[in-house]
Amino acid sequence: MLTLLILASILPYVQANSGTWATLPMNVVPYLTEAAYVPSTVPVLVGTPPQQMNLTVDVSAGLIATYGSDCILCAGATMFDPSLSSTFKTNNTPWPASVPSFSGVEVSDTVGFGGVVTVANQPFVNILDGSNQTFANSIWNGHLGLFLNPLNATSIAQHVLTHLYKSSSLLNPVVGMRFDPANPKVTIGALDPNDYEGTINWVQLDQSPDPTGDYFNIFEFDGVKGYDGQFVPYGGNLSATLDSFFLSIALPNADTYFLNTNSTGPVPQPLGLINDTGVVEYNCNSSSPASLSGPPQSPYVALTATINGVDYPIDSTGNLLRPQSGASSAGFCPVGIKNRSDTAQPNVVFGLPFLRSVYIAYRFPTDDCPGYYGFAFPAGSNRTQSQISQTPTATPTNSARCLSLAAPTSTPTANVVLAQEALASKDAYTVYGEQGTAQVPLTGVYDLPKIVWNWTALTG
Ligand SMILES: *[C@@H]1O[C@H](CO)[C@@H](O)[C@H](O)[C@H]1NC(C)=O
Ligand SMILES: *[C@@H]1O[C@H](CO)[C@@H](O)[C@H](O)[C@H]1NC(C)=O
Ligand SMILES: *[C@@H]1O[C@H](CO)[C@@H](O)[C@H](O)[C@H]1NC(C)=O
Ligand SMILES: *[C@@H]1O[C@H](CO)[C@@H](O)[C@H](O)[C@H]1NC(C)=O
Ligand SMILES: *[C@@H]1O[C@H](CO)[C@@H](O)[C@H](O)[C@H]1NC(C)=O
Ligand SMILES: *[C@@H]1O[C@H](CO)[C@@H](O)[C@H](O)[C@H]1NC(C)=O
Ligand SMILES: *[C@@H]1O[C@H](CO)[C@@H](O)[C@H](O)[C@H]1NC(C)=O
Ligand SMILES: *[C@@H]1O[C@H](CO)[C@@H](O)[C@H](O)[C@H]1NC(C)=O
Ligand SMILES: *[C@@H]1O[C@H](CO)[C@@H](O)[C@H](O)[C@H]1NC(C)=O
Ligand SMILES: *[C@@H]1O[C@H](CO)[C@@H](O)[C@H](O)[C@H]1NC(C)=O
Repeated sequence: MLTLLILASILPYVQANSGTWATLPMNVVPYLTEAAYVPSTVPVLVGTPPQQMNLTVDVSAGLIATYGSDCILCAGATMFDPSLSSTFKTNNTPWPASVPSFSGVEVSDTVGFGGVVTVANQPFVNILDGSNQTFANSIWNGHLGLFLNPLNATSIAQHVLTHLYKSSSLLNPVVGMRFDPANPKVTIGALDPNDYEGTINWVQLDQSPDPTGDYFNIFEFDGVKGYDGQFVPYGGNLSATLDSFFLSIALPNADTYFLNTNSTGPVPQPLGLINDTGVVEYNCNSSSPASLSGPPQSPYVALTATINGVDYPIDSTGNLLRPQSGASSAGFCPVGIKNRSDTAQPNVVFGLPFLRSVYIAYRFPTDDCPGYYGFAFPAGSNRTQSQISQTPTATPTNSARCLSLAAPTSTPTANVVLAQEALASKDAYTVYGEQGTAQVPLTGVYDLPKIVWNWTALTG
């Protein structure tokens, strides 16, 4: 007891000196399906008092954008209302990357994570027209880009992670991510040892990716293995990227995998091979449970990513093998392995089936340290001891300088009164049927979707 009291009195002092870290719950779907894309979101606090925006996590870009409360057809349930924030600033400069159906203005305000780490005057974009269906389908509530593009020094310098690092707010310049439905979360400023098992396997990110390419978060890796534990023969070195918007794994030629039973293992024939919908499907008519109550358990889709000598199995049920849907034929289940449509680097795109199967660390670039990804096994993910005890082949150069991280002690917590709650306790609403008597605060009233009145339609 005495020891605990002493620790409790020392810890806040230590953390104040060395920076801290925040843990944020992530919202993810229980299983993947071709029928609908549902973004992975985390709560971000914007404005003073803070408004909670559940922004869509993007691991391959750096843009931070909220959906404004006046936005036309923005998709989501949390919208940013600048009029409620005392620290909001804007010159109404149009966002340069705007397109006619997805546009906004450059703004700045306080941005924070978990009430633990906060940046004042953080630049971001407030979207005012979100009517483009492509964006509306994939970006829910706004965008939280957690990647610092090595080709763009301006975007690195302006990023919220850089500002937190420069103000010594963070214990370490890292982000930890679990996209798995068992315990999805993001940590900012530390890798929580409770979140992963095994050694963090660090690989350096490419410092000069193809500037005309579609990805900038590229790393070299060994290859993918099939059911027989052998590499699918793609020949030569492979490069990969991570994409939290992509529902599948893209390989240089998916048929090299699908047409070799050594790679696929024993799967029921015939395969529903590629047709115009671009989906390969496995016969799963004897699988249970049925498509609507959850993903099928069988057949097993065998695919392992081997990075720096360590094998990371990609889970089949609910990840690589999806329920029957509009994109598949009756009795057939779509398989999340596709062709890489682009011949430029990288050769392989690791989308959500991979992200939901591994623990991911991102050491963002600072000063003279480049960016690194680190991989491990998500704690509690039922991996075998021999899988967990694998060790990486090589250690990246500059590891001692760039990858020596301070171990976190306890999980920091914060009490934040959100703008919504502050207002909910102020405003009172008359109870229907009891006019003139009881008045109650209506918690969550500001979360209700805003109705956009169409005056053209109403007035003819
Ligand atoms: C936002 O995310 C938090 C944490 O995941 C969740 O508790 C809350 O209900 C979400 N709010 C909305 C409006 O979706
Ligand atoms: C939506 O955005 C995409 C990507 O920028 C673009 O290709 C498409 O033309 C846009 N659609 C509309 C209706 O503006
Ligand atoms: C670099 O990032 C800044 C800030 O996000 C952006 O305005 C600019 O267009 C980017 N430059 C390039 C070449 O992408
Ligand atoms: C693989 O990469 C290494 C180091 O970049 C290079 O020396 C080697 O020639 C490459 N091998 C092939 C088959 O491309
Ligand atoms: C499958 O593996 C067996 C045993 O290693 C080998 O003899 C055979 O050539 C392989 N088949 C293909 C198509 O690679
Ligand atoms: C499942 O599909 C196979 C191959 O198309 C077929 O032979 C079999 O009769 C089907 N079984 C059921 C229960 O529909
Ligand atoms: C591809 O599969 C879909 C879903 O079963 C089907 O509607 C479509 O007709 C198929 N296309 C071809 C060219 O076979
Ligand atoms: C992949 O691409 C190859 C080569 O272009 C093509 O023959 C094959 O049908 C495609 N397979 C899939 C699964 O998309
Ligand atoms: C864990 O893995 C073992 C061996 O692969 C398997 O038998 C067991 O069903 C798995 N348990 C869960 C909860 O997935
Ligand atoms: C508003 O209603 C008019 C007339 O019904 C329609 O043409 C227009 O597309 C609607 N606008 C929106 C944003 O729904």
